[in-house]
Amino acid sequence: MPLPTPRGPLSEALCADLTSGTLRPATLALADQAAASPVPLADDDLQVALYTCYELHYRGFDEVDDRWEWDPQLLALRAVLERAFEAALRDAAAPWVRACPEGTVDRQLAAMVAADDGPSLSGHMAKQADEEQWAEFLTLRSVYHLKEADPHTWAIPRIAGRAKAALVEIQADEYGGGSPVRMHSALFARLMRTFDLDDTHGAHVDAAPAEVLATLNAMSFLGLHRRLRGAVVGHLALVEMTSTAPSRRYASGLRRLGKGDDATLFYDEHVEADAVHEQVASVDMCGSLVAAEPELRDDVLLGAAIALELESRAGARVLQEWTAGRSALRPVAQSSPRSDSSAASR
Ligand SMILES: [Fe+2]
Ligand SMILES: [Fe+2]
Repeated sequence: MPLPTPRGPLSEALCADLTSGTLRPATLALADQAAASPVPLADDDLQVALYTCYELHYRGFDEVDDRWEWDPQLLALRAVLERAFEAALRDAAAPWVRACPEGTVDRQLAAMVAADDGPSLSGHMAKQADEEQWAEFLTLRSVYHLKEADPHTWAIPRIAGRAKAALVEIQADEYGGGSPVRMHSALFARLMRTFDLDDTHGAHVDAAPAEVLATLNAMSFLGLHRRLRGAVVGHLALVEMTSTAPSRRYASGLRRLGKGDDATLFYDEHVEADAVHEQVASVDMCGSLVAAEPELRDDVLLGAAIALELESRAGARVLQEWTAGRSALRPVAQSSPRSDSSAASR
């Protein structure tokens, strides 16, 4: 995939450096400036720069040498951005964690889910969203769903015993249980094609506002730091625990538009699978992890709270744009129809 379109001085310099092969000291200085953003989670330049750094650990970019993945200077630049990002994530998550009652970790997670009373994007998609809003929604969601499960997979080698077995059980389903067409990312691609959207990995990053990129960056950040293994596991648990009911609403929204199985399969699958994953994630995975490493309890709650808060901010941003009669996509890249080359390559 191509590099994302820059959104400010840092991402502009970073993309130029990755292409030319030399990271300039001036780019590092720009990272310091970006890290001073008063709103790191809503800062487009900072989020797209972080996204660019992380993507080198996934599929990389066409015009960027794969060796950049472990370039010490680039990792130093990323660390500057991550310090600001982590501080903002901890701030955003703090109220959820503080409100958690005492008890077993699975009960604490359930209480956190129950306390979420934010505006419901899934409710809007079920009852009101038209074809155009659905296309925008899928365009934005594709930033994560086309690499669904990958960020949490980083946690597998970092934990052990029953918690690891539970994580692998969940991930095996996410990856289709051995069937490439059943992979959740593939089911999402199939759904996108019913809206004639480009389903190429990373195709819609330019359309995603900072709040949406931040949801993916947070997963990558937690997943790529072993010290935060409790948090990435908590993040996954929250995702699984908040999937069944919204997935049912998304599927009904698609049926309301007259869409068939190709479109609804992704959400139907989540209604079924996540009813099981919810227990496996909260009791077997998080419960066993905290039993084995009690000091990770706070991190599990932190990761869950980050997932909840960022999802709610991204959803609120989308609803706010629609309520104001605007597109939820960034204007530089409205959702584009499938290109002939991507259609031909499937
Ligand atoms: Fe999934
Ligand atoms: Fe799941």
